[in-house]
Amino acid sequence: MATPTWGYTDGRSGAGYLGPTLRAARGERVRVLIENRLSEITTVHWHGMHLPAHSDGGPHQPIAAGERWQPEWSIEQPAATLWYHPHPHGETEAQTTRGLTGLFYLDDGSNSELPRRYGIDDIPIILQDRSFDSRGRFLLRDRAVTGLLGDTILVNGTYNPHLPVTTRLVRLRLLNASTARIYHLAFADEHEFAVIATDCGFLPAPKRTRRLLLSPAERAEVLVEVRPGERLVLRSVPWGLDMITPLTNGAGGNDHLDLLQLRTGPSPAPSGRVPEQLDTAPTVTLDRVVARRTFQLDGREINGQQMEMSRIDTVVGAGTTELWTIQNTHNQPHNFHIHGVAFQIVPDGATSADPGLGWKDTVLLAAGESVRLAVAFPPYRDPLTPYMYHCHLMWHEDEGMMAQFTVVDPDQVGTAPRTLDVDHDHLAAGHDHG
Ligand code: C2O
Ligand code: CU
Repeated sequence: MATPTWGYTDGRSGAGYLGPTLRAARGERVRVLIENRLSEITTVHWHGMHLPAHSDGGPHQPIAAGERWQPEWSIEQPAATLWYHPHPHGETEAQTTRGLTGLFYLDDGSNSELPRRYGIDDIPIILQDRSFDSRGRFLLRDRAVTGLLGDTILVNGTYNPHLPVTTRLVRLRLLNASTARIYHLAFADEHEFAVIATDCGFLPAPKRTRRLLLSPAERAEVLVEVRPGERLVLRSVPWGLDMITPLTNGAGGNDHLDLLQLRTGPSPAPSGRVPEQLDTAPTVTLDRVVARRTFQLDGREINGQQMEMSRIDTVVGAGTTELWTIQNTHNQPHNFHIHGVAFQIVPDGATSADPGLGWKDTVLLAAGESVRLAVAFPPYRDPLTPYMYHCHLMWHEDEGMMAQFTVVDPDQVGTAPRTLDVDHDHLAAGHDHG
């Protein structure tokens, strides 16, 4: 039984499932030519990338069936593990579930002592869950409150995977590419690992732990030390009582799943150690903040409203830093992603970000939880092309739990347009949004 899938191809192989890992170095100019050979509208969004809004690949850059799109930008941000996926209005969950997902690594020459041989000691790990019908097709409708929760785990598109480990130290670049499932990662024998990077770059120092929560779209890079002949099973384990408890069920929080087996050979090659420190971008302090805003997540709404392509919800000044308070007042978990930026988490009462939590672009909020974010906005001004902020549980996003912001010259924040002329027929990917 074969599962019909969608994928991205660079032309050297078939477009089976997922897509090639793209790589670029800081300072490079990137141009990607995308041709849509699907029979419906899609977009290609560069998740975590800092780039002009017209190249972002959100719902305002639709690529009709048979058409081409050629975004172009310069890499002006630190090394990070980013990714790309579709973002058409209302169809993101379905298109991603069919297989449209790929990684995009940014390099900047820093931390060069870390394992960095692709597929040898620096391993991409794309985590997804899927369910299949009796004919082997992906189930696209049977949802929990957070969205599609599959009973089958695929790692890099592989069922029941194992990884031959040939070095004493291995770097795993983890991406939660599931549309709704929140993973609580741990090794079966409580083996310790060191988190070295989160969504948008390296931490100031490796953080040793035995547990890691990863919600949809979040990334983490971890270093794992192995012994000769060792077998380690990476799992998603139920959330303990000391972890986020409200409504863990709807996000798979009580599931026990084996994700990947690491099989170390009898004589793994000696390799470097976990470093004491890492090079990273400086921490934000609150004296740089020019505006404070609050966003409430509830139901399928942000601040009581659903996504409207023609409405600009927020206007910010190019190159400024703002303090955004995100409140999840709903009785379900949600997460919050902002396009085109990196942010740092500011603990309650603190006057600067907690550097140990890293630079992120997506943050998980349990039911009832709130979080303060110091958000660094990009220099790219465009009053007529918005970026998105939204819940990254893709079904919620498709249902309208999304809003738009533009980045304009700082002295035009008060006067920039708040509405856009959009051609709904052209932009909607099959959903009727009135
Ligand atoms: Cu991963 Cu709006 O995107
Ligand atoms: Cu949500």
